[in-house]
Amino acid sequence: MDLKGKCVLTGVKPTGTLHIGNYVGAIRPAIQMGNECMAAGGNFLLFIADYHALNYLKDTPNLKEITRQLACSYLACGLDPEKAVFFRQSDIPEVFEMTTILTNFTPKGFMNKAHAYKAAVDKNIAKGEPNDAGINMGLYNYPILMAADILTYGSDYVPVGKDQVQHVEITADIAGALNAVYGKEVLKIPAAITQEYGAVLPGIDGRKMSKSYGNVIPLFDEEAKIKKAVMSIKTDSQDINTPKNPEEILLYQIARGFCAPELVAEIEEGLKKGGMGYGTIKKMMAEAIAKELAPIHEKYVHYMAHYEDVEDMLKAGAERARKLAKPVLEKVRETVLGE
Ligand code: TRP
Repeated sequence: MDLKGKCVLTGVKPTGTLHIGNYVGAIRPAIQMGNECMAAGGNFLLFIADYHALNYLKDTPNLKEITRQLACSYLACGLDPEKAVFFRQSDIPEVFEMTTILTNFTPKGFMNKAHAYKAAVDKNIAKGEPNDAGINMGLYNYPILMAADILTYGSDYVPVGKDQVQHVEITADIAGALNAVYGKEVLKIPAAITQEYGAVLPGIDGRKMSKSYGNVIPLFDEEAKIKKAVMSIKTDSQDINTPKNPEEILLYQIARGFCAPELVAEIEEGLKKGGMGYGTIKKMMAEAIAKELAPIHEKYVHYMAHYEDVEDMLKAGAERARKLAKPVLEKVRETVLGE
């Protein structure tokens, strides 16, 4: 993909404690993409979508704290705020003006079909409650705010997990609807990228790694806890000497997602040949994963303790983002309101 002069953007919602599944599926690819974009002469924007959390999280200290944690996590994992434009959604007033404009070009039916809203309605129906019980307009309009996030900077590509592809498609449709009204390309039509981004790492019980399943290997925790989680990865009862297909072995699937290629190759060979026991593999993985996470954890603790510096980085990022937003919003304002 030629990224010269292109704008690649993605947002992350503040959620609680991160695990290595978040690292493999979102944090690591975002950092790589930032580096690639900059090397190819493009822009990479990564922001914390704090207002996107407000529809379900009205606990101010908690929202503030998980936003802080998320910012420190990306930095600890190696996001370079000089390369990527790293900021907080709430620091960009242009996004909210864009949201107001876009609502007028969004057919209501688009929102009825958006999956987060539909899932909430289905839950209500299953419980025998009125369709819209407990659903606020923040949830209903979620895709319009997301469209504003994307369109305000003239983004070309949006790396997202599969669950967010529909939102990017809605964004493209909203931009197309506005462009059609005025008969010209006012807003750039973005496309989702889903390759590596959103790769799913299985958890220690074989289901998708997720906090709600309690099957995670934590990203920032004491060494003993990380090792304990690795040692509890589920195994089968095949004989140690039976040659195995690594693709069918959970330990291997997790190693392949996270560990260094040399270790992955060693495990692959051991499983194919037979003779390498699951206990041995677990020990190798526990050592390797704990070793890889230790310096990241240390950096995380450092950033959390020096949060003023992180705040400065986010503010500087917001300034850079607003510079990109201004001409786009200006063009839209001129189009809809006149010069
Ligand atoms: N909705 C995304 C999520 O839940 C987060 C997000 C908000 C986002 N705005 C965005 C992602 C813009 C990509 C582009 O994960």
